[in-house]
Amino acid sequence: MSQRTFSIIKPDAVKKGHAGAILAEIEKAGFRLVAIKKIALTKEQAEGFYHVHAARPFFGELTSFMSSGTIFPMVLEKENAIADLRKLMGATNPAEAAEGTIRKKFASSIGENAIHGSDAEDTAAFEIGYFFAGYELK
Ligand code: RTP
Ligand code: MG
Repeated sequence: MSQRTFSIIKPDAVKKGHAGAILAEIEKAGFRLVAIKKIALTKEQAEGFYHVHAARPFFGELTSFMSSGTIFPMVLEKENAIADLRKLMGATNPAEAAEGTIRKKFASSIGENAIHGSDAEDTAAFEIGYFFAGYELK
């Protein structure tokens, strides 16, 4: 059964000109692009998105980074989309990411790691709703 997940091409990847190459990897892996937008977050908007990490020591760094430039939030669809996107992204720390994954190819550090992907159905639903209205999801 088809499933939707939420992803962000992060500011480091956009600044380096890797957005197109990352989208190509995602399409090659069989995801349908349901919706995409080009925006920059305020620090407050980044804090709202990452509220589950509010108590973590890296929260300030993470939300400053995520509000430091243009991002491409998007909604992706395929069978088993949530787990398959996480596999395609690779480990959070690019030094531990498997060969051929997006983070292995495009990420420079654990903080600046090129792409976000939802980790479960409930977080995917929250994250899609944070960035997109129902009428934008076709
Ligand atoms: P994401 O949410 O961005 O898809 O990444 P993830 O699931 O692989 O990792 P998560 O544990 O959800 O952490 C969210 C983001 O916080 C940054 N982080 N920094 N300095 C650190 O130890 C550290 N740990 C996590 C990463 O940028 C990670 O993507
Ligand atoms: Mg996460």
